[in-house]
Amino acid sequence: MEMKAFSITDQKTGSTARISCYGATVISYKQRGREILFLSTKAKLDGTKAIRGGIPPVFPVFGKATDGPCKELPQHGFARTSMWRVIKQDLETATLELTPNDLSEEARQQWSYDFKLQYTVSVSTDGLHCSLAVENAGSMPFEYQTLLHTYFRVEDIAATRVIGLKGHSFKDKVTSKTAQATDEELVCESETDRVYIDVQPDVQIDAGSIDIKLQRANLNDVVVWNPWIGCKNMGDFGPEDGYKNMICVEAGAVSGWQSLAPGASKQHSQTISVV
Ligand code: BG6
Repeated sequence: MEMKAFSITDQKTGSTARISCYGATVISYKQRGREILFLSTKAKLDGTKAIRGGIPPVFPVFGKATDGPCKELPQHGFARTSMWRVIKQDLETATLELTPNDLSEEARQQWSYDFKLQYTVSVSTDGLHCSLAVENAGSMPFEYQTLLHTYFRVEDIAATRVIGLKGHSFKDKVTSKTAQATDEELVCESETDRVYIDVQPDVQIDAGSIDIKLQRANLNDVVVWNPWIGCKNMGDFGPEDGYKNMICVEAGAVSGWQSLAPGASKQHSQTISVV
């Protein structure tokens, strides 16, 4: 059974976003009728697995930690696989909340800090705005990573260019090497999984008939991921050649750790607009 989901609509442009409470995942963003996000045809929307597509938020760890306080957690943490509560909703904006009480017993044991996450999604003439506020609600300091794992829908991956990464160093998770981006633009031509560090605030995705601008605040890193033909081996990825029609350009704070003292909070956000 599909988990609870709801839509918000920009009253001026008619742009809409649909949000699943499971994983606070934006599963569709239509700007002037055109879908901007990729959602796998095999995505599980029933709460049995993180949603493959849209914008699953990653917290408190990016990838899989091999040591430290996140080491018991599954890849990309628990935010994308927890049921969030809607605490505020109007026509154009919604805020969802997650606290330890909302977590599974297993997740609570894996990461036992006291926190409050508030995730606000809004649609406006500026585009789709997603903002995650992280609060330390306990008496122990904690560290975290976070990322908005955005799957963009593109017509043709071969004609898709990511612009704005030149000059930044990146960790290549496919080759396990670190390098400096020297090209003006990145075109995926095989499996791509790169973490660009400390990138300037705006990157652009030029995808043929559509140009997308991704603006970030307090999400200094940018991950670019395309599984290429490896998507055939992913049980929830469809269609089989769907890698040709998607690119993940993910705004994150993932190359280091964010520290939060008791009572402190931080805000991380992105805006997606079609230019
Ligand atoms: C990306 C990572 O952010 O997410 C990749 O850089 C990973 O390494 C990808 O494969 C998908 O992860 P998952 O857990 O949703 O299959």
